[in-house]
Amino acid sequence: MNPVDRLILGLDAALRTVAGVHEAARPSPGESVPEAELAEGQRAHAAALMRVNHVGEVCAQALYQGQALTVRSESNREALERAAREEQDHLAWSAERIEELGGRPSLLNPLWYGGAFVLGAAAGALGDRWNLAFLAETERQVEEHLTGHLERLCAEDAKTRAVVEGMRLDEAKHRQSAMALGAAEMPEPLKLAMRAMAKVMTTVAYRF
Ligand SMILES: [Fe+2]
Ligand SMILES: [Fe+2]
Repeated sequence: MNPVDRLILGLDAALRTVAGVHEAARPSPGESVPEAELAEGQRAHAAALMRVNHVGEVCAQALYQGQALTVRSESNREALERAAREEQDHLAWSAERIEELGGRPSLLNPLWYGGAFVLGAAAGALGDRWNLAFLAETERQVEEHLTGHLERLCAEDAKTRAVVEGMRLDEAKHRQSAMALGAAEMPEPLKLAMRAMAKVMTTVAYRF
């Protein structure tokens, strides 16, 4: 694929992500789980947590797109594209779950997408080892974050929990594959900076 085709595909993906057009290749892990009786507050809380997760997945789309544009090695590109396809499932699953819970996606999605795209492209420009390092660390933090959500979701809400758990398993796989491809280890200050940014993003996205 030549760079212009790649750019057009990238723009298409950006518009779809921000416009909320998602297609999952795999059924949602929550699909066959029955809906629990939830109190109004619990439902709103679950919808807000899923909005945060959906923003995370919007950012994942942007990161992977940004990185795919700059990655050097063809085999690394294929691994990135494979993970990006699974992230598309996450995007669709979380959007679907928000809707089922009566919530709405973040109003700031175009902003989140733009920011994450720039970060992904910047990491990509530093070379594949750092590109993969950034990816591995992102996936690790997302995995931890989803574990935190499993603690914060009410125990009866098995349907939301199944979606979060399904995503968490994939993120662990993405981290392992980035490491297997030769990711460098991120310096501690950068990890902390990523955590701080994620904190701002998750706090804002819980409300807006
Ligand atoms: Fe994901
Ligand atoms: Fe992931």
